[in-house]
Amino acid sequence: MDFELKSLSPNQAAQLTTDALLVLVPDAKAGKAASGALHELVTSATEHGDLEPGVAKQLACYRPAGFKAARVLLVRVGDGSAVSVRKAVTAGLGALKQPGVKKLGLVLSLFDAGNDAVRAAVQACADATYAYTTTKPSAKARALQQVVVGVAQVAAVRAGFDTGRALVTGVEFAKEWANRPANHATPTMLAEAARKLGRKPGIKTDVLGPRQVEALGMGSFMAVAKGSVEPLRFIVMHYNGGAKGSAPVVLVGKGITFDTGGISIKPAPEMDEMKFDMGGAASVLGTFAALAELQPAINVVGLIPSCENMPDGQAVKPGDVVTSMSGQTIEILNTDAEGRLILCDALTYAARFKPHSVVDIATLTGACVIALGGVRSGLFSTRDDLAQALHKAGETAQDPCWRMPLDDEYAEGLKSNFADMGNVAGRAGGAITAAKFLQKFAAELPWAHLDIAGTAWKSGAAKGSTGRPVPLLLQYLIDQAAAMAAAGQAKPGSKARKTAKS
Ligand code: BES
Ligand code: MN
Ligand code: ZN
Repeated sequence: MDFELKSLSPNQAAQLTTDALLVLVPDAKAGKAASGALHELVTSATEHGDLEPGVAKQLACYRPAGFKAARVLLVRVGDGSAVSVRKAVTAGLGALKQPGVKKLGLVLSLFDAGNDAVRAAVQACADATYAYTTTKPSAKARALQQVVVGVAQVAAVRAGFDTGRALVTGVEFAKEWANRPANHATPTMLAEAARKLGRKPGIKTDVLGPRQVEALGMGSFMAVAKGSVEPLRFIVMHYNGGAKGSAPVVLVGKGITFDTGGISIKPAPEMDEMKFDMGGAASVLGTFAALAELQPAINVVGLIPSCENMPDGQAVKPGDVVTSMSGQTIEILNTDAEGRLILCDALTYAARFKPHSVVDIATLTGACVIALGGVRSGLFSTRDDLAQALHKAGETAQDPCWRMPLDDEYAEGLKSNFADMGNVAGRAGGAITAAKFLQKFAAELPWAHLDIAGTAWKSGAAKGSTGRPVPLLLQYLIDQAAAMAAAGQAKPGSKARKTAKS
């Protein structure tokens, strides 16, 4: 999908030759001086009660007088906030799904659209028209190819536009890989995708296989992989946009390409959805795809432990005790609590980068789905500043999360008679006890954990990946880049190589 940012007055918008024009109309009245076809259409429709105020109220017009575009859709955008823009564009594009609409003019110049609003508009265009086709030849591919985003002043919203475009790349990358069935997205294939990303500017990818992972002593990760004929992969990615030596943000993504539960096997209904159990990994890959495009001034490391969780003669058994890379032993009481078992070794590995912060992203617990549903991801952190930064990024990017507690009492149930810890602690507070398990491996790191079990994909008729939390992660990185640049400017001698956008 191709986006173009253009300065466009209401009169120029009417002259735009596109297949359709989607005009966002604020509830507030236009200025007195306004005139022309678009102004007349909006005024007349409003006066006749055909375009009620309120976000996403619409009026579809065909070949209205004075317009070059055949289809003109007026959509109310309320107060013009980013949230309203997203709703309005989503609703508008829902009504412009005709195959003939290949080029769209999206008019944001009737109100004061800021960076966040423009970004939201770009993102909503992509979200509303996304179609997965890789393993479905009969699927209708996305008709919309080109979007001209018309604003009053290009320079003022360029950053939001660029961020939006990079986000579309990142979110669609994540959706694609998460949506692929497990036989089309094995650990080896994920690693190949990561390698390919490694050819983009600023990115480098290393892929470790079973022998190297064994040499590192990742006994916990290896235990999960044992039950599958698919070999594990440990993906290590670097994005170097920041100053040399500047501490990186490390993103760790759970990459279980299929979770049967292992010997503690899951029931059959909805087990297919466990192909999405690499949603964390997909979000890390997507974030790197976005970084390559946006090039913010920050260093980022991506770590993805990836394997299948299968039952087999060789599979790890309930009660088996394994030694993690940290040296701590784990009694695997439930083989279905496998995400924490692969993440713990990746967290230990993360320490070598002396990170600015470490954020793991995982479809970790059904309990988190019960706690927060599909609206907010679960956020856990031992550091208030890191938790606040991630929370804020989620609000800005309309990809929200909610902080959950980490009281030490929650770790009680993880005690084991046969190892340093068990891998499960009973049903109560399951999302929290999982986080407490991970915390034992984060040691002194500035660490946060995002449980995306409820937000990474949708079930039912709209079954599919959401691409979350790529928007949150990218926003967090942009914010950190800006903070680092500001700190660098304050200190003479150290300089940020590139300036952060948006
Ligand atoms: N991948 C699942 C978590 C999950 C389940 C996400 C359902 C979304 C929907 C994870 O590996 C898992 O199986 N967790 C168990 C943990 C339990 C055994 C302590 C769970 O949540 O049931
Ligand atoms: Mn599981
Ligand atoms: Zn899982």
